[in-house]
Amino acid sequence: MKTALILCTLAALAISQASVVKQARANLILGSVRPGDRLLQSAVLYQPAIANRVQTQDLIFRGNVSSRISSIQAREVGASQYAQVRLISGGLNRSNATLRATSRVSYGFNYQIQIWGR
Ligand SMILES: *[C@@H]1O[C@H](CO)[C@@H](O)[C@H](O)[C@H]1NC(C)=O
Ligand SMILES: *[C@@H]1O[C@H](CO)[C@@H](O)[C@H](O)[C@H]1NC(C)=O
Ligand SMILES: *[C@@H]1O[C@H](CO)[C@@H](O)[C@H](O)[C@H]1NC(C)=O
Repeated sequence: MKTALILCTLAALAISQASVVKQARANLILGSVRPGDRLLQSAVLYQPAIANRVQTQDLIFRGNVSSRISSIQAREVGASQYAQVRLISGGLNRSNATLRATSRVSYGFNYQIQIWGR
């Protein structure tokens, strides 16, 4: 089995008076699921809102040496909180991937993550 770690929160840049510029829901969908691919990892990145805080959380997926990731999908669950999720290491055609969710000031996030491959 592959291992996944959810690393909690570096976090906590207190930013007061930041103007919140709202943007459209930003899911991250990379690559595509092909026939024969399997769901390698399913996980949730979730943090509740905290006043005046920016929160971050990482998901680290490590496959074995022969694993190949074909698709990485992060979908926001529920009402949009204007968060962002991005790939910060590894990714498509690799055996591992690190995703980072970053909240807006005073918001949280809730992402359903799926990593597909073979
Ligand atoms: C390596 O991981 C893949 C999934 O990415 C799995 O299909 C395969 O069986 C694993 N191989 C070994 C040797 O564990
Ligand atoms: C992944 O590898 C395939 C062939 O093995 C190639 O066609 C494709 O462009 C690669 N994708 C990326 C994102 O490197
Ligand atoms: C990801 O895989 C590469 C080799 O493909 C390895 O060098 C690197 O240390 C791995 N990173 C993590 C975070 O597991």
